[in-house]
Amino acid sequence: LIEAVNAREILDSRGNPTVEVEVLLDDGIVQRAAVPSGASTGAFEAYELRDGDKGRYSGKGVLKAVAAVVDELGPAIEGVEASEQRIIDEILIETDGTENKSRTGANAILGVSLAVAKAAADSADLPLFRYLGGPNAHLLPVPLFNVINGGEHADNGIDFQEFFLAPIGAETYGESLRWGTEVYHVLKGELKSAGYNTGLGDEGGFAPDLPSNREGLDFLIRAIEKAGFTPGKDIAVGLDVAATEFYKDGVYTVEGKEWSVDTLVDYFADLVANFPIVTIEDALAEDDWDGWKKLTDAIGSKVQLVGDDLFVTNPKRLQQGIDLGVANSLLVKVNQIGTLSETLDAISLATRSGYTSMLSHRSGETEDTTIADLAVAVNAGQIKTGAPARSERVAKYNQLLRIEEELGAAAVFAGRSAFPRFKG
Ligand code: PGA
Ligand code: ZN
Repeated sequence: LIEAVNAREILDSRGNPTVEVEVLLDDGIVQRAAVPSGASTGAFEAYELRDGDKGRYSGKGVLKAVAAVVDELGPAIEGVEASEQRIIDEILIETDGTENKSRTGANAILGVSLAVAKAAADSADLPLFRYLGGPNAHLLPVPLFNVINGGEHADNGIDFQEFFLAPIGAETYGESLRWGTEVYHVLKGELKSAGYNTGLGDEGGFAPDLPSNREGLDFLIRAIEKAGFTPGKDIAVGLDVAATEFYKDGVYTVEGKEWSVDTLVDYFADLVANFPIVTIEDALAEDDWDGWKKLTDAIGSKVQLVGDDLFVTNPKRLQQGIDLGVANSLLVKVNQIGTLSETLDAISLATRSGYTSMLSHRSGETEDTTIADLAVAVNAGQIKTGAPARSERVAKYNQLLRIEEELGAAAVFAGRSAFPRFKG
């Protein structure tokens, strides 16, 4: 039974305050969870409650959310069995009482929801992935390493936010981690010798001032080859365009020019024809449903089209996309929706509808590794949690090493099968 719930304000990887929650059970178990925070957040995400008190952390403090945990959300679940995750999440949602979790804050609610799951797993003496996924949890995800950072995550001129390496040809997760990391280091050398800055962006990728988005993909391919791998066969590439950030009044501003959606769709079709691209996330803006439909009809059979800001891990928005035949993959961010149960609902809906799921960190992260366990629990086959550098990113990749070791002979690396539409 849940005996007590505590919360505190801690710092995330960008030096901004965030919520950490501790749950104490009557058997003496204590577990904690910390909440991440985005920069290129979708307009339809659950509400992140910040204090707005300019005298502390420029208004970004989370003492109100902390108080909501201690005074309201915690007391509401005291005495409930920790394994009753769905009932607990329902109580949290009802206690908040708003559609987008804006009263107590989705950051407060998520901290409690995740800490409860971890405490219940510990109390059952199970690793989190096993507790959440049961006996069938066995699939190690392909890590999508964000090795070039642009958009809102860096101070360079690159419009697209993320450039991924996807080591789909590896035999094991551990091998995929090594491959991606080796290419990351080669990429640094390539950027340096071409005269670019090799400072890092928010997610640990390099943030060079490249002249075009295409140049970013060229650098990835060169680095993959120079590290001794075959592009497409061993290591594929991918993008998170985060197009909402450069969309306004029906116009996309890319590389200083104004592009119509048709021009942009042709541009992506050309990229997919010329690079071994397995996945493109948020290629278009979060409310451009017509554009998304055109894009999906044009290239959806050849490449994974992931909805992040578009779906915000929300089963209702995802259902809308499924009904319209828009995108074919769900980005899963626990703090976009705010409870573990709703996150699992979104993933189930995606799977039932033939959509793939990619587990995801946020650009503001902590040492919490829950998403690594979640990826294996649901056999998602894909995870993105930044570059193979910076501890808040590497913490998740390292946790997956431990899970692979724990699974032993039962572990299967998703590899190419994670991207059923990729034929390249
Ligand atoms: P965010 O970026 O965490 O800043 O929203 C990640 C993403 O867009 O996938
Ligand atoms: Zn995104």
